[in-house]
Amino acid sequence: MQRFLPVLQQDNVDPQLTSLINTLMVACKEISFRLQQGELAGILGTSQEENIQGETQKKLDIISNQLIKDILLESDLVRAIASEEEDYIVAGSPNGRYLVCFDPLDGSSNIDINSLVGTIFSIMEVPEGQEGANEEMFLQPGTAQVAAGYVLYGPSTQLALTTGNGVRLFTYDNTIGEFLLTQEKMTIVEDTAEFAINMSNQRFWQAPMQNYINDLLAGNTGTRDKNFNMRWIAAMVGDVHRVLCRGGLFAYPTDAKNPEKPYKLRLMYEANPMSFLVEQAGGVSSTGYERIMSIQPTEIHQRVAVVLGSKNEVNTCLSYHK
Ligand code: AHG
Ligand code: MN
Ligand code: MN
Repeated sequence: MQRFLPVLQQDNVDPQLTSLINTLMVACKEISFRLQQGELAGILGTSQEENIQGETQKKLDIISNQLIKDILLESDLVRAIASEEEDYIVAGSPNGRYLVCFDPLDGSSNIDINSLVGTIFSIMEVPEGQEGANEEMFLQPGTAQVAAGYVLYGPSTQLALTTGNGVRLFTYDNTIGEFLLTQEKMTIVEDTAEFAINMSNQRFWQAPMQNYINDLLAGNTGTRDKNFNMRWIAAMVGDVHRVLCRGGLFAYPTDAKNPEKPYKLRLMYEANPMSFLVEQAGGVSSTGYERIMSIQPTEIHQRVAVVLGSKNEVNTCLSYHK
């Protein structure tokens, strides 16, 4: 099996970008190790802190953030970072060429039950001619991403990565400390009979989503004339991974549960990188009304509605929104 670095070199990925992703993986390997230690390392449970979004941080949210932040800010290639767990952007090297957005630990409510979590990342370039570091630089649409991916800390640790030439899946071999290529090209099947959504929010969704999901639930007794199955990992990284592996539709739609927070997932470090992967694997990713990667961001922590996955099924869902 081929190792991570030669695979990207053969694909003519910019050597600096390759080096940056490799650096990021050093932190992810460390997170993977700590997660395996779990309770033994005393890293489970909740901290006393809240992030800017008013969410209580888990100890591992803070540890993972620190590991990634430290290693990225040491790199000459990184101009600045934006993280779910940092209120503001953090400046790195004045000559750095890249901007990195990340969710250091996605699905953190799964930590204490020893279940799936992951790290999601998105890499962009500093717009030409811009000096210093500011939030403005980050406000580029998802189409500007030069790389995106996630590391899933599951029974095995895996990296799904795109640099704009398809999606590759690597599996971490901890006996040699390397990610090895285990799937050259991930493609999302176009049709599916599986969906993932937090059904407890059903009564808070808008009419198009209610109608669409009702038709899925009606199965072969309804207009779809086909039975559907439901899966929900409660970590976007796990749900999107399943969609990449065997197809499906994943949605976190607009809801009216808390009028101040109509959307759950964050554009810059959840929706955009996942959309890049999904599109590169032949799937579709939308808010219900527009392509996620075309959204012009207005701030680094903004949230967005998400419907993504198997092309034909997502398009069916979108037709309810027209
Ligand atoms: P995070 O742990 O980074 O805050 O993200 C959690 C997100 C996402 O991964 C998942 O799809 C969603 O929250 C699950 O939320 P609920 O179970 O609360 O609906
Ligand atoms: Mn998350
Ligand atoms: Mn997180």
